[in-house]
Amino acid sequence: MATFMKLFVILSIFSLLACSTNAQLVNNFYGTTCPSLQTIVRNKMTSAIKTEPRIGASILRLFFHDCFVNGCDGSILLDDTATFTGEKNAAPNKNSARGFEVIDTIKTSVEASCNATVSCADILALAARDGVFLLGGPTWVVPLGRRDARTASQSAANSQIPSPFSDLSTLTTMFSAKGLTASDLTVLSGAHTIGQGECQFFRNRIYNETNIDTNFATLRKSNCPLSGGDTNLAPLDTLTPTSFDNNYYKNLVASKGLFHSDQALFNNGSQDNLVRSYSTNGATFSRDFAVAMVKLSKISPLTGTNGEIRKNCRLVN
Ligand code: HEM
Repeated sequence: MATFMKLFVILSIFSLLACSTNAQLVNNFYGTTCPSLQTIVRNKMTSAIKTEPRIGASILRLFFHDCFVNGCDGSILLDDTATFTGEKNAAPNKNSARGFEVIDTIKTSVEASCNATVSCADILALAARDGVFLLGGPTWVVPLGRRDARTASQSAANSQIPSPFSDLSTLTTMFSAKGLTASDLTVLSGAHTIGQGECQFFRNRIYNETNIDTNFATLRKSNCPLSGGDTNLAPLDTLTPTSFDNNYYKNLVASKGLFHSDQALFNNGSQDNLVRSYSTNGATFSRDFAVAMVKLSKISPLTGTNGEIRKNCRLVN
């Protein structure tokens, strides 16, 4: 019996140790250490979106690009320095990822209330949620307790973030590598109901593809010439670019997806039925999007004693 008790105590200690280094995200993580956190983020996002509605989209995209590269660890927020190469200049982010100043503003305000307590990774997760909500989309409870990476990977950002030229099979494989299903891919792509994209990413689609509405292609060609104008912008959702709604899916059903990767979800393939269903049922899309965002937010977080709480989101401490 004594031996049994000893074994039990040893096993308990081991499992406690395992928990402290492999902690789970929890909803009320800052409940006592930073009770004003969620109000601060919401207020700052409200004023940022009032100034520029697109910023909600830009921050949602930042969060996606953070989570897809070694997990939701704030790595995308790190600046390049003479001795450090971050992810900001990786192909999918360079001259394209935006919203960093808003995260800085939120972080400054959070630090003023709760010094050295809240990670940049958690701030980004909350800001992305609030951006969606403030543009008319669903809300959800963000599990918290992520810590910030002390490293970043430009090569992982180049290879693990999907390209707008991808087919459905590549998109499915890349999402599956992050533990996300084809349905998750389809519902998370609904994020393209807000925001803008550059001509260089949809030029081939509007000039050379056939599964595109002719009037829509003509409309987009007016600000995206065959050569030049690479960075000219077009709304990802041609109908309501600053409202988080299900019009993205209505566009796909009408062959008005902006990127090849958008229309790939409705091109006589496995996702057609889900796209059609979201196109006619906004409430289902909203509900499923919120669930999938929580799933995205749980990709390989740093917790416990791993990583750090950055003082400045742009720099490792
Ligand atoms: C499925 C694969 C995806 C591909 C290939 C893709 C690709 C792109 C590209 C090329 C842009 C335009 C960037 C630019 O022109 O500067 C863009 C914008 C955007 N993406 Fe995605 N994306 C994908 C999935 C997602 C997901 C899962 C989310 C979020 C959950 C997301 C959120 C956004 C948002 C909100 C914008 C607009 C950003 C802005 O206006 O600043 N995307 N995406």
